[in-house]
Amino acid sequence: MTVVAEASPSLALIKYWGKLSGGVNVPATSSLAVTLGALQSRSTISDRGRDGNEAATEDLIVIDGARQPTEPFLPVLNEMRSRARGSHAGEPHAVRVESSNNFPTAAGLASSSSGFAALVVGLDALFGTSLPTSELSSIARLGSGSAARAVYGGFSIWPAGAKHAEPLVPGDHWPDLRVLVVVLQTSPKAVSSRTGMERSRLTSPFYNSWVQSSETLFETAQSAVTARDLEKLGMAMRQSYLRMFSTMFTSDPPLIYWLPESLAVIRRCEELRARGIPVWETMDAGPQVKLLTLASHEADVTAAIGDAVPGAAVISSAIGDGPVIHSRNER
Ligand code: PMV
Repeated sequence: MTVVAEASPSLALIKYWGKLSGGVNVPATSSLAVTLGALQSRSTISDRGRDGNEAATEDLIVIDGARQPTEPFLPVLNEMRSRARGSHAGEPHAVRVESSNNFPTAAGLASSSSGFAALVVGLDALFGTSLPTSELSSIARLGSGSAARAVYGGFSIWPAGAKHAEPLVPGDHWPDLRVLVVVLQTSPKAVSSRTGMERSRLTSPFYNSWVQSSETLFETAQSAVTARDLEKLGMAMRQSYLRMFSTMFTSDPPLIYWLPESLAVIRRCEELRARGIPVWETMDAGPQVKLLTLASHEADVTAAIGDAVPGAAVISSAIGDGPVIHSRNER
């Protein structure tokens, strides 16, 4: 059987940066995220053992045409196989996964969140396990923390210490909200978020302050999303990414994901706000800048960014839905 699963990345407005000890990817900070509907990971997953190739015992993972080492995927693959064994389906086989993204991979655009979300949802359909979404969230977390949120559409939350994320409100809660993703560099980042957040935890003198102060921002952002209050949300999300970056800049060795163009976009957002245009920026472990604004201001903001950083690609996204199984072929 072959299954095609699609999922969109989870963009954190309130950040997860740092893990608690004693678990796999259990967050030290509560995060709140939106689903970027315009960006998609699409995974075609088939069962190799039942694929006419009985000798295939190894998983095969291909992303954007390039074969990947299987090791980062094994926690998710093995957990899903163990759930399948515990159900009815008999011994699950090795799988072939071919995944592609309609946006740059591993460049700070949360491709791991959508990739692992598509993987768990696809395996759930392939193996016939029909797990609750909260369990899929918990298993996706084993691949990449942010993937725990990407199994939900709309806005999701992931409380500190929790093994799975939760839905907050669906995508249609805020129809005129737009995320503009300003793509400044498409090459993969030099330091993965997994390595970076551990470095911050171990070496930044500001790490504990970041963790302690983040909870209030999380609570403020939740009520701002519920009330569709962009200014309140924007002020909380700005504090969140800048406090997160303060632990990155003060890690040893320092983590400097920004480019000069990233700062140019931040400055331009400040100028737009001073002119009364509601636009609020955030960044992750990469140079790209993501802007929240309203549909009615999208054209003005896009033009102003094009003026500040000529040549930068701007991808516009409404808030997306959760993963879907696109097609399923029985053999
Ligand atoms: O779980 P990872 O490895 O995708 O790390 C996510 C880290 C940030 O994108 C910087 C923040 C977040 O909450 O998504």
